[in-house]
Amino acid sequence: PIIKMAFGLTDLEESIAKAYGISQVIVVPGDSDTSVFTKKELGRAGAAALRKYVSKDDIIAVTGGSTMAQIANNLAISSSMKGSWFVPARGGLGESVDMQANTIASIMAKKTGGKYRLLHVPDHLGEEAYQSLIQDPQIQEVVDAVRSCRIVVHGIGDAMVMARRRKVDAETTRSLEAEGALAEALGYYFDRQGNVVHKMPTVGLRLEDLQRIEVVIGVAGGKSKGEAIASVLRHGQEDVLVTDEAAALEIMKHV
Ligand code: F6P
Repeated sequence: PIIKMAFGLTDLEESIAKAYGISQVIVVPGDSDTSVFTKKELGRAGAAALRKYVSKDDIIAVTGGSTMAQIANNLAISSSMKGSWFVPARGGLGESVDMQANTIASIMAKKTGGKYRLLHVPDHLGEEAYQSLIQDPQIQEVVDAVRSCRIVVHGIGDAMVMARRRKVDAETTRSLEAEGALAEALGYYFDRQGNVVHKMPTVGLRLEDLQRIEVVIGVAGGKSKGEAIASVLRHGQEDVLVTDEAAALEIMKHV
């Protein structure tokens, strides 16, 4: 039965890769919505994917969230990552400290023996503050490093779950609903077709930067996120997807 199951997951991986045109899909068994063990496995598989693609002295941009925190947990001292720089993909996105990209980047650096740079940018930036902040030479230096990364590892969330978690204001929440926002990644909200319907005002990686970034790795699982993951895949910038069985089955329903 174990072998049969492994074949089943391999089939799922191949079907998703083919249906959405991505290079590699890794599916771990189970549903991380209901199983802590599966969530940990997702983290382990995410860490393994990063190890596979990393090369010497890379800049690796990472996002926040509980899945990314699990990846950080599963990293260890590695000669291939010793020279790596870990940077947050974007500035503050309204996450609690333990789930912020800055925190994840610094933990990953400490675990692997790599280095890190942080983006000290407050959440909920207004347009004026944003404009003056991006002029700051020190911020500019980190932003340049972030945009020149070779690898991005990012989480994916359900749009409304993320809007609530970030305490997005009522007006924005209404407009997200009206626009049919389904998914969130890197501070961008996407509709069913994978179009961007909203972006959070902060510094760092822009969606258009993904085009020239060599390896974009999305890590997300759980049945409840399946449809969200499908819409980010439809946006079409992912190279590698690490997910779980429950999400994978949903993703295939939304091809
Ligand atoms: O806020 C950072 C982030 O990576 C989001 O872009 C994503 O939607 C979310 O976290 C995923 O969080 P979790 O892994 O906890 O579901």
